[in-house]
Amino acid sequence: MIRPLPTLLLLCGLLLLLLPPCPRVSAQANASEVSLYDDTDNVEMLDIESLRPALYQNTHCKLVQFLNSFCGDCQRFAPVFKAMSRDLYKWRRLLRIYGVDCAQERNSALCRDYNIRQTPTLRFFGPKVTNKTIVYGEQINSQNPKRITAYMAEYIPRNDFGPGQPNFRRLKSGETAKSLFQSYQDAQSPVEFIVVVLEQRSRPGIQILIGRNTLLDLLPYKEVAVRYSVDPNIFANFGLPPSNEKLAIFGRAGSAQYLHPSTNTSEAYVQVVGEFLEKQNIKPVPPLPAPKEKNDGSFLDIQKQAILAEVLKPPAKVYRADLEQAIDKLLHVELQKWVSYEKENYRALTNIITLISDFNPLNKDGKVLLTTLRKELSTKQTIKGSDLKTLVATSKMGLRIFKARRYIGCIGSRPLLRSFTCSLWTLFHYLTVEAAKPPQLEPPGSVLNAVHGFAKYFFGCTDCSQHFQQMAIRRNLTSVKSYDEQILWLWAAHNEVNQRIAGDPITEDPKFKKIQFPSSENCPPCRDSKGEWVNEEVLKYLKSLYDKKNLSFYGLPTPNGYD
Ligand SMILES: Cc1cc2nc3c(=O)[nH]c(=O)nc-3n(C[C@H](O)[C@H](O)[C@H](O)COP(=O)(O)OP(=O)(O)OC[C@H]3O[C@@H](n4cnc5c(N)ncnc54)[C@H](O)[C@@H]3O)c2cc1C
Ligand SMILES: *[C@@H]1O[C@H](CO)[C@@H](O)[C@H](O)[C@H]1NC(C)=O
Ligand SMILES: *[C@@H]1O[C@H](CO)[C@@H](O)[C@H](O)[C@H]1NC(C)=O
Ligand SMILES: *[C@@H]1O[C@H](CO)[C@@H](O)[C@H](O)[C@H]1NC(C)=O
Ligand SMILES: *[C@@H]1O[C@H](CO)[C@@H](O)[C@H](O)[C@H]1NC(C)=O
Repeated sequence: MIRPLPTLLLLCGLLLLLLPPCPRVSAQANASEVSLYDDTDNVEMLDIESLRPALYQNTHCKLVQFLNSFCGDCQRFAPVFKAMSRDLYKWRRLLRIYGVDCAQERNSALCRDYNIRQTPTLRFFGPKVTNKTIVYGEQINSQNPKRITAYMAEYIPRNDFGPGQPNFRRLKSGETAKSLFQSYQDAQSPVEFIVVVLEQRSRPGIQILIGRNTLLDLLPYKEVAVRYSVDPNIFANFGLPPSNEKLAIFGRAGSAQYLHPSTNTSEAYVQVVGEFLEKQNIKPVPPLPAPKEKNDGSFLDIQKQAILAEVLKPPAKVYRADLEQAIDKLLHVELQKWVSYEKENYRALTNIITLISDFNPLNKDGKVLLTTLRKELSTKQTIKGSDLKTLVATSKMGLRIFKARRYIGCIGSRPLLRSFTCSLWTLFHYLTVEAAKPPQLEPPGSVLNAVHGFAKYFFGCTDCSQHFQQMAIRRNLTSVKSYDEQILWLWAAHNEVNQRIAGDPITEDPKFKKIQFPSSENCPPCRDSKGEWVNEEVLKYLKSLYDKKNLSFYGLPTPNGYD
């Protein structure tokens, strides 16, 4: 009964090798492809087609999270952001929440236009964004949901949402219930009741926010408009007898009454208004339904299961498909971040291109592409981001590269795990090993220097970038003097990262636990009897594992055309 399975997997493994080149996923994909959020979180994923039209909507503000679905920091932020966004569904009349995945190739120009180099980046946009010039939005530099919410509670009220819409301006003296209802009538609004809050005047150092907060929290009732005033005669203007009350409600048909909250807080105001409305049979917009259990069951289709089984089979191998993916994503997404390149970021760009062109793991067409890019860049000192994109596109024309379009050794057992960052490490280790081999085209230290430049200027994973830069200082990256030292430096640095993030329930793939690499199974002599590293053995192991001659073609359409 058990036997058919391995046979089946083997067959799939073989099939994989025979598969025609995969279609370019990104060309047809839309914003709903696997990312960190979806509509059930009150976060709509947008892309290069849909972001701008969404920003031009003038009836509400927008909060946009630019993210990188592969980056651990964004993955860890996701549950927090989801909870906050679900809660802010109550502000939906005035606020839409969006996500843009900068790791998706078709969004690279968009994220460059909006100057996104770190993720997650939160930008807030008012209702009046026009298409005349690019509006970058206000950056919110916090990942704390309370601060983000407080920021928006402050900025949303600074806007005018048009007739009939929620209105944060204080009531003018002289306004009456009748004149107000008139304005709602003209705008054909569903408003049946106007709640009026009498506030104290703000004094230096004391900001009075009770009216604003009451308005925000009553947004789920479309039948209610909330207005506030500091004029003690306001209730008299609205037809109520004088009193020291602070909260009243007026009906379209002329009803007027004070309400009696249990305390002078916006929460108590909202509660007593809610009770009043309930008696009128008016209900708030229901909250978002509980999120559905996301079903990843279909993620591991038969092809992925076959890949996983193959990859988990010892001994550990390094796969060309992953190196191709890393270079593909570098050229089309990660290296395309800047509006313009000059000096440091230009050097960081050319350092990487130089190394991948010297130690190119791609096929012959890939070699042509990298050589062209390198040559073109060597004749310049600066380049605009849009020109770099064009350069990559034109240099690639007619060439057949990046055919597999899937991770093999870097496959994850769930969506969004491993993949790109795993392929980057694989590429970097590969480069340190290749650089050490004759004819030693680049000086010792050049790979680490390029990795450092990449981390500093291009890596979309912000905390990775910062940690790496700190590590570079602490571990004396620039003092590395030999090729072997360079290999071991990156190995030790990678192990430090492994140690730091091991056991993280969000980013660790249960099928690929973070270990101190290599495992004793994969390299018995790498540790001595006391469990201490034997560096010469580690070096030997890495040099053999990452050697170009030992790369596996598994998962690529064909090994033809390489080397
Ligand atoms: C420069 C850089 C910095 C990063 N910093 C962070 C960070 O600060 N926080 C964070 O959450 N994520 C960080 N990441 C991402 C994180 O390290 C992993 O890439 C991600 O969690 C996916 O892990 P993985 O299981 O696929 O294995 P990875 O750690 O990506 O490793 C890929 C493969 O390399 C091999 N390998 C593992 N260790 C070593 C080693 N020491 N030497 C040689 N080969 C090895 C293994 O075969 C492994 O499967 C960083 C990534 C990079 C490239
Ligand atoms: C900007 O928007 C206006 C009005 O919607 C439209 O007529 C115009 O063509 C747009 N301009 C650009 C550059 O998209
Ligand atoms: C609210 O404030 C008013 C005026 O300051 C006061 O008279 C009233 O007692 C307060 N209400 C409560 C419930 O504290
Ligand atoms: C870095 O260099 C300093 C000074 O040369 C030295 O004291 C320190 O031990 C070095 N650190 C590492 C991790 O090699
Ligand atoms: C390839 O790997 C094998 C065993 O894993 C090893 O013996 C061999 O030396 C490696 N080849 C190179 C060129 O490093």
